[in-house]
Amino acid sequence: MLHVSNLVLTVTDPDTGQDTEILHGNSFSLAQGESLGLVGESGSGKSMTIKCILGIEPAGARVDGMIELDGVDLLAAKGEELRHIRANDLALIAQSPHGALNPVLPVGRYLVEGMSDARSMPKAEARAKAADLLRQVGIDDTERVLNSYPHQLSGGMLQRVVIAGAISGQPKLLFADEPTTALDVTTQAEVAAILDEMRREHGLSMIFVTHDLDLAAAMCDRLAVMKNGEILEIGTPDQIRDTPQTEYTRQLMAARPLLYPAGHPAAAFLAVEPTADREETRS
Ligand SMILES: Nc1ncnc2c1ncn2[C@@H]1O[C@H](COP(=O)(O)OP(=O)(O)OP(=O)(O)O)[C@@H](O)[C@H]1O
Ligand SMILES: [Mg+2]
Repeated sequence: MLHVSNLVLTVTDPDTGQDTEILHGNSFSLAQGESLGLVGESGSGKSMTIKCILGIEPAGARVDGMIELDGVDLLAAKGEELRHIRANDLALIAQSPHGALNPVLPVGRYLVEGMSDARSMPKAEARAKAADLLRQVGIDDTERVLNSYPHQLSGGMLQRVVIAGAISGQPKLLFADEPTTALDVTTQAEVAAILDEMRREHGLSMIFVTHDLDLAAAMCDRLAVMKNGEILEIGTPDQIRDTPQTEYTRQLMAARPLLYPAGHPAAAFLAVEPTADREETRS
């Protein structure tokens, strides 16, 4: 459903007029219902890749190449068509839920207006749907949460609300950029599990950006390893673990901290006992 080919992002320094290439001609595809993890060190271009697809690259930057969603060329689409695609087909879950939510409105308004405006749903129906979505993301006291302002809820709770909002629009493609990094470790695991479950249940495609190789492996069908604005390799989590194609991937594998206890879904990527696997990786 998504074809990205030869994606190049160039930014121009407004003072010197000098061009810097940030992404160097990356290509990848995503099938319906598939999830792709973008992994790699800080500054490798993970966020910029999804920003290019969402059309929110930095002002003055130039995007070249081809980005095609269900046959529509997003780089050529303009005006109403592009607005429609962004509003209906794409949804972003960012690192901090605060950017998505209006601080002076109860979160219920965010969910209800999202649905009633975008899908011309009657308000009462949208409110019932919002409560239903909140239950799906593990929130039971839905009335209290719908009536709460963002500052009255924890980060984990807010991120669940944002996930519910993202799902409510039934997008074709979900982007999650470090969606759990700002949360404490226990909440991180819960929110990641909810996101994973919701995505699978609703059959959504997802591009999941993270530093955390194990989490990406647990949540994604394939991983793209990025470094310095380039995709070095793409493979299934098993391929990346067992037959890394580059020295960088090998180093990334060896350097990852062990955050997950045995039995956690992300620990499954370690195949055997986490510590034993680490010994193997090191030797
Ligand atoms: N607004 C901007 N203008 C110019 N260059 C930028 C801008 N934002 C980021 N960059 C550069 O683009 C490159 C890729 O950044 P990007 O944010 O995509 O990295 P990332 O892989 O998401 O890193 P992190 O894991 O820290 O979020 C970096 O070299 C960064 O310095
Ligand atoms: Mg980033």
